[in-house]
Amino acid sequence: MNEFLANVRALLGDAHVLTADLAAYATDWRGKFTGQPLAVLRPADTAQVAATVKLCAAHGVAIVPQGGNTGMCGGATPDGSGTQAVLSLGRLNRVRGIDPLNNTLTVEAGCVLRTLQALAAAHDRLFPLSLGAEGSCQIGGNIATNAGGVQVLRYGNTRDLVLGLEVVLPDGQVLNLLRALRKDNTGYDLKHLFIGSEGTLGIITAAVLKLFPAPHANAVAFAALQTPQQALQLLGLMRGHLGDRFTAFELMSQASVAMVREYFPATPALFAAPHPWQVLMQASDAAGQEALDAGFQAALEDALAQGVIDDVVVATSEAQAHALWAVRENISEAQQHDGSNIKHDIAVPVSSVPGFVEEVLPLLHAAYAGVRPVVYGHLGDGNLHFNVSRPAGWTTPDWQLQTDRVNAIVLDVVARYGGSFSAEHGLGQLKAHEMLLYKAPLEVDVMRRIKQALDPQGLMNPRKLLPA
Ligand code: FAD
Ligand code: MLT
Ligand code: ZN
Repeated sequence: MNEFLANVRALLGDAHVLTADLAAYATDWRGKFTGQPLAVLRPADTAQVAATVKLCAAHGVAIVPQGGNTGMCGGATPDGSGTQAVLSLGRLNRVRGIDPLNNTLTVEAGCVLRTLQALAAAHDRLFPLSLGAEGSCQIGGNIATNAGGVQVLRYGNTRDLVLGLEVVLPDGQVLNLLRALRKDNTGYDLKHLFIGSEGTLGIITAAVLKLFPAPHANAVAFAALQTPQQALQLLGLMRGHLGDRFTAFELMSQASVAMVREYFPATPALFAAPHPWQVLMQASDAAGQEALDAGFQAALEDALAQGVIDDVVVATSEAQAHALWAVRENISEAQQHDGSNIKHDIAVPVSSVPGFVEEVLPLLHAAYAGVRPVVYGHLGDGNLHFNVSRPAGWTTPDWQLQTDRVNAIVLDVVARYGGSFSAEHGLGQLKAHEMLLYKAPLEVDVMRRIKQALDPQGLMNPRKLLPA
């Protein structure tokens, strides 16, 4: 290891091989996993990433790629052996080019998502990936996790926003797939192997991203309703009125909103009394604020007239729209303050969400008196964060010991609905073992064959995504 460290210092410079004060790199955002890195390596560009990976391969050093370290599954956290190197991508933060006529942006992996959104806006374009961690997550991490976020309804997942990639393979070769093409049928589309691979097949160093027309008209509202079934009806109704202009539809249980108000006391009470479910909606258009407002208003009046919603608050300024979004975006952090919760990130067909919720909630309440489900998420995509906070009186360690039982209650129902046990955040080290429970053995076997073909030494993010 000393020889490896000396070589990598010679390559990157002493200042970029960290062996002390590594806490920020050793623990995940939730504080659920803590490892012990051999070192944190901070290459400056693709050539340095490639040379670093070659050195690691020669010395048999395992690599844990790390972007903004906002992942929810411990994917970017090394194990406790002290033998794995964290490869931090933050210095690869250059914009390689923007082509507004081709509607593409070519950037390095360490660019922070919010910076890219701002850059697109400065060119009167939209880069639509948007999520609560956008101020610190990096585009490389977004691609490695195939992040979803709050505009999937209209623009798709990260996978749908990537046209090209540059990847350093586990042997240190640079695979250049940086094409800015919307059509290209020349064999297997290799970039899709790396999107969502959570650093297990190679290091993403750059990407060509899709841009869209900037939305100059926006409408945002928060609605109160009684059931997830009504939320589903509302989704259909809003889409009927607004078509593709409807961009976000986020469901929140009353417990989620109450938790935000508890830990962010400045959060306004939007309705006179609590309602069991609430929904945050957004519509956008390239132009025509008046026409968008009229469509939005007509849809909401229709929903009120049909009794689909009880009440609604419509933002009348950008500041109000931000305040409404803050209620939704602060749920994750409020849950952090609240302490132990068993987190699920599931998807079922959109039409099955109400049935799924109505089936699981009584099972949880029957198993644990006083349990506090905090259910929220991207109903428009059938993806819910079905988090189960500990019942009053339970200690955090005791509640964590219930993880397997709580998971079985929730995920067995997900499986019956033909759903996914991890719809957004990936598997990391938190959910890798669930592959064996909920994926067909042949599917897992094909994944193992791909991993073996690309990373025969098993040095790329070991034991993440695929169980040992
Ligand atoms: P990291 O956490 O650093 O890494 C994540 C994984 O990707 C790890 O396995 C890591 O090894 C790998 N990786 C990172 N960079 C690279 C690279 N360049 N090459 C290869 N592998 C790499 N996620 C959603 O999908 N939707 C949401 O709505 C959402 N909301 C969130 C809200 C909050 C408040 C927080 C804290 C997180 C949220 N997340 C959400 C989860 C997280 O932000 C995303 O998973 C994000 O894409 C991770 O990016 P990152 O740069 O922080 O990656
Ligand atoms: C969200 O949608 O807020 C996230 O994916 C983060 C979370 O699950 O807490
Ligand atoms: Zn989410």
